[in-house]
Amino acid sequence: MKARVAVLAGDGIGPEVIAEGLRCLRAIAGLFGHEFELTLLPFGGVAIESHADPLPESTLSACLAADAVLLGAIGGPKWSAPQAPLRPEAGLLRLRAALGTFANLRPVRVHAALADASTLKADVVQGVDLLFVRELTGGIYFGDKHRDAERATDVCSYTAAEIERITRVAARLAQSRRRRLTSIDKANVLETSRLWREVCTRVVAREFPDLTLEHMLVDAAAMHLIRAPRDFDVLVTENMFGDILTDEAAMLAGSLGLLPSASLGEGRRGIYEPIHGSAPDIAGRGIANPYGTILSVALLLRLSLGLDAEAGALEQAVAAALGDGARTPDIAPAGTRALSTREAGEAVISRLQRPG
Ligand code: IPM
Ligand code: MG
Repeated sequence: MKARVAVLAGDGIGPEVIAEGLRCLRAIAGLFGHEFELTLLPFGGVAIESHADPLPESTLSACLAADAVLLGAIGGPKWSAPQAPLRPEAGLLRLRAALGTFANLRPVRVHAALADASTLKADVVQGVDLLFVRELTGGIYFGDKHRDAERATDVCSYTAAEIERITRVAARLAQSRRRRLTSIDKANVLETSRLWREVCTRVVAREFPDLTLEHMLVDAAAMHLIRAPRDFDVLVTENMFGDILTDEAAMLAGSLGLLPSASLGEGRRGIYEPIHGSAPDIAGRGIANPYGTILSVALLLRLSLGLDAEAGALEQAVAAALGDGARTPDIAPAGTRALSTREAGEAVISRLQRPG
């Protein structure tokens, strides 16, 4: 098949991990006979430098015209002062809104060989296989904002329609898994959470009676996630709770660098990005973990291009590389030689096989 992928490498370690993601994408194209048109576009801090805009018009229109968007990471100390007039993060939020990607899927699987890489006990994290569905284009991220010298506000707002559609996405995914859905809110304090709970309950009761739905307060969920993470199957939650809890959940897998994500809207086009940030402290050293990006490429193949076998082949190659001990410094046991970003990418590509 032919497909167009807009590539936004961004800042910090973004370009380093994206380079490996692209090498995997090209390897898949070669192995399976596809033609992927990959267009690199300025985005984030680098685009503030070159275009005085974190999301230049030309980048946005290329993303709107593409079949999928592959994103590295954005941000850095240069653009993060409280008074900074332009922020890389604002570009990311505008991109998510413009593409209508309201559902952010963040799967967390603990690879058998990596149970020892987590800061949690191996017997707690072994066998974890959960999926976060984070609402991505509403809530406090997108409500009215105000700041003067004496006072600042961020409004959190949700409509019933926004809650309905994200509940449906999560519920459908739960139906294809272990049929357990946990909705996370703060209904003991927040009005948005009380609406969330009401709407979520109604949608599941009417449309997904085969699911087991449980509601959990966000503070309890934060605790339960590290106490008994195997209890969870699919978790659905609002934008900011999802942001916070998915960084926590990444620690189950051993490193933030391992987790992929897919952001989807009504159609097939999506934004695919590792959940980690730009990590300015290690940028330019060639030691960043590329697995989260490579696994995001696998999600892109499956969810936006419908290439299931290709996605599976890439995921299996990652599993094989990890199983053979191909580890970057963030997941390498003390005293072992860790691989560079490039070597980890190489370890995956050399294990890529066509199924059958
Ligand atoms: C994420 C990031 C972003 C978010 C930032 C960079 C705006 O933390 O994708 O989790 O908060 O959504
Ligand atoms: Mg985050």
